[in-house]
Amino acid sequence: MIGWLPEIALGLTCNSKNTGSTMTTLSGPTNDLLHKFPNLYEKVFTVSTAPTCVDLYQSRCGSLPRTTLDIGSGPGRELADLAELGIDCVGVDFVPMMIEYAQKSYPKVEFIQGDMREFRLGRKFDMITILGACINYMLENSDLEKALATIRAHCREDTIVIVEPYNTSSFVGTNVPPTEYAIPDGDFKAVGSATYEWSQKEQLIRRVRTWRFSEGQDDIQDTYKQRLYFAKELQYFFEKNGFSVIDIVEHQQSKIYNKSLFLLATPAS
Ligand SMILES: C[S@@+](CC[C@H](N)C(=O)[O-])C[C@H]1O[C@@H](n2cnc3c(N)ncnc32)[C@H](O)[C@@H]1O
Repeated sequence: MIGWLPEIALGLTCNSKNTGSTMTTLSGPTNDLLHKFPNLYEKVFTVSTAPTCVDLYQSRCGSLPRTTLDIGSGPGRELADLAELGIDCVGVDFVPMMIEYAQKSYPKVEFIQGDMREFRLGRKFDMITILGACINYMLENSDLEKALATIRAHCREDTIVIVEPYNTSSFVGTNVPPTEYAIPDGDFKAVGSATYEWSQKEQLIRRVRTWRFSEGQDDIQDTYKQRLYFAKELQYFFEKNGFSVIDIVEHQQSKIYNKSLFLLATPAS
């Protein structure tokens, strides 16, 4: 029986051979529990990237941006933090549930549903951010180039673009990706155990994660597929698509992942 997640009608239910219990396998635009229930996302990923973005921007420009576009804005926390500083913020995300949740939580920020490979807002921004490995949803080179055209279309000549891709060393270097995710409290208390497969040929990682809940809910399995980009590879694509790369830096950003990578770019003159 399915417990308190009725919207899991989006998913498939099957019997798990390992546990003998019923397992729900999520499907939909992204197969991730945390995308279907954005309130849970912020319980797992507790650190806002906004202060890092402000520091990176200010260290180059000496002042705060007046306007920011966040692509793949998710539950909206980063933009809410930036809006508190008086910055005019717009967020775009692919998943309608993320947009709905973000708009309800942070009414002062404008959130718009759109695909980074194609949306055009007809506006330009001082700072454009793509955080939390959103860029890694661009599985093919052609997807990445379309996303770069979108970013370029929203740039003035002095716009600073801040991208936080996965730090690929977390997957194929000496570091390791997280194997345990926790929803620490509330009705949805759970632990997610993850395994990863790496395809060298496609440069894709596939994560399979099983969520076990503290009570009253069948296990849920979610999966994702993301492209890994090496830093120099991303730099190449940015430079090929009309940008100058200003810097590539590492920060200890979240407790779950090893050091985050940030690539800073500006339109090429
Ligand atoms: C891991 S979340 C990151 C959320 C937030 N930026 C953060 O740093 O916490 C990735 C987000 O990218 C969004 N996304 C995935 N593909 C996208 C696309 N093609 N266009 C726009 N957003 C996309 C997902 O819906 C999701 O909200």
